[in-house]
Amino acid sequence: KEVIYCDTIGSTNDYAKEIAKNAKEGTIIISEEQTKGRGRMGRYWHSIKGDGIWMSIILKPNIYPHEAPFITQIAGASIVSGLKKLGVNSLIKWPNDIIINNKKVSGILTELGAEIDRINYIVVGMGMNVKTIDFPENVKELATSIKKEGHNLKRIDILKSIIEEFEHLYLKYIQDKDKSECIKICRENSAVIGKNIYILKGEEKRKAKCVDITEEGNLVIINNNIKEELISGEVSIRG
Ligand code: BTN
Repeated sequence: KEVIYCDTIGSTNDYAKEIAKNAKEGTIIISEEQTKGRGRMGRYWHSIKGDGIWMSIILKPNIYPHEAPFITQIAGASIVSGLKKLGVNSLIKWPNDIIINNKKVSGILTELGAEIDRINYIVVGMGMNVKTIDFPENVKELATSIKKEGHNLKRIDILKSIIEEFEHLYLKYIQDKDKSECIKICRENSAVIGKNIYILKGEEKRKAKCVDITEEGNLVIINNNIKEELISGEVSIRG
């Protein structure tokens, strides 16, 4: 495996996309600090030096573009199960937030380099607040860190644990076409199954109850007795 380690960088996702074409599958870019860390929906991602894990993995799977959202589920499952191995319980707020005590500790940003019917590369960005104590005013109430939740862990140990899980679940999916272990983790550690939520899609906002996650990694919701499947990447949800 190739690991590119930086002291400072704009965004590990941006850099990964720049080098993706000539990079080997599995290349990991990791930085102590990001000056232009990005979250979903063009939001800013706070990535102070030494506070967390800011990394991106370059993948080149032979799958169709519409299957790419499943990679986000693999990332979520590997974060939750990587943390569990170190004694930290967390939940997945489908599709891409990892929470502890209802606050966000980690987020995933999956980006695609694709043509109509084929994928050139996928960049999976993962950010985790490990030692952060002070968060920016606008996310203070919503964010937490591993340390704030009472765990004194080294970033390198968390990183190793997550990458091991990711490699295992990713290879199961790519080599054996087996999604079941990943889906099991997503279901058993879901923060939303059984809950009433709001679904945001563009300007639209509606209420529904989450009932399950499908074998494909889609969220099943029910509203006025009508069942519907949501695909990650198209929607965002609120509690
Ligand atoms: C989100 O929850 O909105 C996703 C946050 C993703 C943050 C990570 S940190 C490493 C990688 N580089 C970025 O610029 N963003 C992702």
